[in-house]
Amino acid sequence: MAAADRIQKLREEIAYHNHRYYTLDAPEISDATYDKLMNELISLEQANPALVTPDSPTQRVGGAPLEKFTKVTHRQAMLSLGNVFDDAELTEFHERVAEKLGADVEYVCEPKMDGLAIELIYENGRFVQGSTRGDGTIGEDVTANLRTLRNLPLELKGKTLPKLLEVRGEVFIRKADFVKMNQQREAAGEPTFVNPRNCAAGSLRQLDPKLTAQRPLSVYLYEVGVLDGVEFEGHVEKLKWLEAAGLPVNPRRYEAKGLEGVREAYQKLLADRHALPYEIDGLVVKVASEDGRLRLGQVSKSPRWAVAYKFPPEEVETLVEKIDVQVGRTGALTPVAFLKPVFVGGVTVSRATLHNEDEVARKDVREGDWVFLRRAGDVIPEVVKVIEARRSGAEKKFEMPKQCPVCGAKVERAEGGAIARCTGDACPAQLAGGIRHAATRTALDIDGLGDKLVEQLILHGLVKRVADLYALTAEKLMELERLGEKSAQNLVEAIARSKQTTLRRFIYALGIPQVGEATAKALAEHFMAVEPLLGASREQLQAVKDVGPEVAREIHEFFADAKNRDAVLALVAAGVVAAPPEKTAGGPFTGKTIVITGTLSKMSRDEAKEQIERRGGKVSGSISKKTDFLVAGEDAGSKLTKAKELGVKVLDEAQFSALL
Ligand code: IVH
Repeated sequence: MAAADRIQKLREEIAYHNHRYYTLDAPEISDATYDKLMNELISLEQANPALVTPDSPTQRVGGAPLEKFTKVTHRQAMLSLGNVFDDAELTEFHERVAEKLGADVEYVCEPKMDGLAIELIYENGRFVQGSTRGDGTIGEDVTANLRTLRNLPLELKGKTLPKLLEVRGEVFIRKADFVKMNQQREAAGEPTFVNPRNCAAGSLRQLDPKLTAQRPLSVYLYEVGVLDGVEFEGHVEKLKWLEAAGLPVNPRRYEAKGLEGVREAYQKLLADRHALPYEIDGLVVKVASEDGRLRLGQVSKSPRWAVAYKFPPEEVETLVEKIDVQVGRTGALTPVAFLKPVFVGGVTVSRATLHNEDEVARKDVREGDWVFLRRAGDVIPEVVKVIEARRSGAEKKFEMPKQCPVCGAKVERAEGGAIARCTGDACPAQLAGGIRHAATRTALDIDGLGDKLVEQLILHGLVKRVADLYALTAEKLMELERLGEKSAQNLVEAIARSKQTTLRRFIYALGIPQVGEATAKALAEHFMAVEPLLGASREQLQAVKDVGPEVAREIHEFFADAKNRDAVLALVAAGVVAAPPEKTAGGPFTGKTIVITGTLSKMSRDEAKEQIERRGGKVSGSISKKTDFLVAGEDAGSKLTKAKELGVKVLDEAQFSALL
């Protein structure tokens, strides 16, 4: 069958490109081409639901949320590494090794990934469990989250698969992915992450795997715990075996002979540090031979055969001249440190976000403090630490204002939340942020509406909400400072053009907290029009692909606010037309008869019925030979048995949701 072949081919290609990107850091195709392959696979699978398998790359969207993580006891303790900070300490380490194994001992040196340690378990070649390191003995079961990682194989390659493989490695985020993600979060009005490591750790410890699936996590494996029936002579052989099994292994490693070899490896890696696609904080030096490792053994919680040779921190010192608060589109107050300009990581930095109140308190950054500054992900300026020794006593503690610095309205912080928000109904800063957001290229795409102009429009009372843009004329615009006739004319035309837009752009332009471009697209495809979205219940919202309980709550809350609903209706009244996404000609449910049984966790049966009917399918109450699919929720009974007898294709809730 042609479709089956093509699906197989696409899966192989996608796996290949995931490997090129996430493992080898050598992509061969652009993001757009990659998306094309993925979209083709999604449509083919939609048209051929019987061919959807759990290991398809389309299934890495994350399953149902967990209540809490269960504990996992590691079969073999996960050790940590001792540190050395300079050549003298490295020499001491080497001398202890050389005493037993000789001065010419072979080492393998690897980048010390700055992420978080995990363990994966494969049984008969199948990924069955993954856990965090925890205290080394007991970690947390994060299997569902790890399954969403693009470069983590769910099945191993090879003819003879070991009964049990326990493999250890590091989950991390690439610098480029980190920067892109923070930009998108900012655009969606979500708080940004401090650095790739924190983000990786936070993402892996999400109870909702759907959230993890949206974070660009990568993994590299570097050690083996228990492994049945396979023995290695040395580390390189072990890494090669892992690679052959299809597991991601960092291609960068240095085979080094004796102390001099390690020194060379250290210099090479140090020189390449900033060019690497991920953050590292040193070089891990490991004795190569397995026999040598056994002879050296371990002390308390770290092995005597390996050490972490730490890099000097890439940090500079600078002065915090002022801490100011910026008010964003969602009213979020973000403290920002204004710094004495300083050169770090190739650019001059004069400000750094302090993210939120808790972050300022945790670091205890004060106006007048000297601080260490670095660039997180090698890009985003981050205040690492206050240099307390340089305090004079005249530093000023930061306090989150009780009133919005722009409009004076009360500032509130939701219980348990990290973000303080301006509660003002007509805050010019929120409004300006909202208008800038609505005008961005991926929203309503209004060219020529710069920050200064937006400020002026608000200052002069010409714009009180996005819809007011459509009432602007060239004459009114020309009354503003520095706007000539031509620019005014162009802007009016650009605004008029933006009236013809798509539903996904329209939804994105609304600036609903936590609704980025991807979620806006999913909402558009699901609701197909503005009105049903306005009235959707939380449960209905959660039935949308990739929308978890948290995002559903935000959307629901947004539309519960009359001001927001009015703003939407005003856009429609101003003549903005949001075209729904084109329906796919034949979806998996088109013309099919479907029976639903058991309890679905994400939606009621009525909602499921509605979803199927909207896609051109028919829902029937009883199973017969004519039934195309049975959707079986929890505790499915006789219908499930009957479907199996009749050979009717059964979809569990996850498969059903994926097809929707
Ligand atoms: S080997 C017994 N290799 O460093 C040796 N660890 O400080 C176990 N790490 O918990 C670790 N990159 O999270 C090893 N190439 C690498 C590593 C690495 C990063 C982390 C790992 C470990 C910590 C120890």
